[in-house]
Amino acid sequence: MSNLCVVGLQWGDEGKGKIVDELAPGYDLVVRYSGGGNAGHTIVAGRKFVLHLVPSGILRDSTRCVVGNGTVIDLVTLLTEIRELEGAGVVLRGRLTVSDRAHVVFPYHYILDGLQDDRADGIGTTRRGIGPCYVDKVARTGFRVADLYEKPFGERFGRVVADKNAAIRAMGGKETCDASALLATVKAQAAALKPFVGDSISLLHEALAGGRSVLFEGAQAAMLDIDTGTYPFVTSSNASAGGVAAGLGIPPRCVERVLGVSKAYTTRVGAGPFPTECAQREGEILRTRGGEFGSTTGRPRRCGWLDIPALRYAVRVSGVDRIALTKMDVLSGLGPVRMAVSYRSRRGRKDGYPATVEELGEVEPEYVEFPGWTFADGISCFGDLPESARRFVREIASRTGVPVAYVSVGAERGALLEVGSG
Ligand code: GDP
Ligand code: IMO
Ligand code: MG
Repeated sequence: MSNLCVVGLQWGDEGKGKIVDELAPGYDLVVRYSGGGNAGHTIVAGRKFVLHLVPSGILRDSTRCVVGNGTVIDLVTLLTEIRELEGAGVVLRGRLTVSDRAHVVFPYHYILDGLQDDRADGIGTTRRGIGPCYVDKVARTGFRVADLYEKPFGERFGRVVADKNAAIRAMGGKETCDASALLATVKAQAAALKPFVGDSISLLHEALAGGRSVLFEGAQAAMLDIDTGTYPFVTSSNASAGGVAAGLGIPPRCVERVLGVSKAYTTRVGAGPFPTECAQREGEILRTRGGEFGSTTGRPRRCGWLDIPALRYAVRVSGVDRIALTKMDVLSGLGPVRMAVSYRSRRGRKDGYPATVEELGEVEPEYVEFPGWTFADGISCFGDLPESARRFVREIASRTGVPVAYVSVGAERGALLEVGSG
């Protein structure tokens, strides 16, 4: 089995967790390369699991999981997740490795994230400290997991906390961090995490050299990618397939295939451009039927129709060679279904995707409409979908130029149809 990257093609929450869990038995390792506790990946396997940092292959016994150097680790989130998984009987020791080079999210990152997001130009982040932590990484003032175990950590940490408290006060924040209490807490958390910490780069290189197959699990999505997304309404890391090499310390050629995940419609949490967003009632119907509330924050997701121009752009950016289309069941019984196939642009743009929020605000999506379809729960074969549903799927393939390989028809494990080549 060749290495596969599973990547979000929209604005997140496409069902990556479900797809990774379904495919994980075919891989030796499942690896996260970017993002942090802002991700919420849901797997329904007997019961519901929402994973923020632990890769979505963890529920498959034979799979080894790695959280790579490109991620940002909130110790509380990760330790809670580990405890909850172990409580559910999932064996993690010897199966989960957290990179010693991943950066650490501290409480002051949360506070700064909240203060920044409370301002008029806030973008509606998940408030999980992601942006401020990546800022420290790039500014070279951050702490990586390995640093927590080195002697100078305490002293440097004290200085950084003092700087951060000053920054918090300058932004009008009241809540600051007590450096010595925080240091004691972090040391205890670091000790608890120690059995899981390792040299992820060596581990991955050894696995690859030994012919092991790897599934790279994307978090967030192409349209939230710091470089290719709808900036500034994006996250702070490279969520697209391009993030794999740097986020794991492996050569780009290791990404052999890329499976892009898209909902059969579109959702977005937080602010930012959303050309195909539906007006209140239509959007409300999609939200209710699809249970569209954030897996991490519980916020209602904004809903709209499938956006082919955005999808085509995301496919191109990540070199997607197959698509997994999720939540087809949500559209069942809805009545006519729409799909935006192009944007009418006053600027006469012919190719590519608009770079600015201003240009995106001006575009007018042009839609095609499909007769609705209805199918029952428990459908197990693509050929059993109504013709109009299959035509919708074929249309996505022809308009993006890549085949749809899977159609997901329910949240539960197993509710996944393989699309044959015929
Ligand atoms: P991720 O962040 O991409 O892993 O996606 P989330 O887990 O945040 O959100 C996807 C939501 O849709 C979760 O509640 C999943 O359980 C659910 N889901 C995934 N695939 C399907 C599907 O085909 N049908 C339905 N009805 N729900 C799905
Ligand atoms: P998964 O992996 C959906 C969005 C936030 C906000 C923007 C920046 O579950 O698909 P951040 O906290 O990252 O600084 O927020 O990105 N966002 C997500 N939206 N799914 C996610 O992850 C997201 N992670 C971040 O809502 O608009
Ligand atoms: Mg999610």
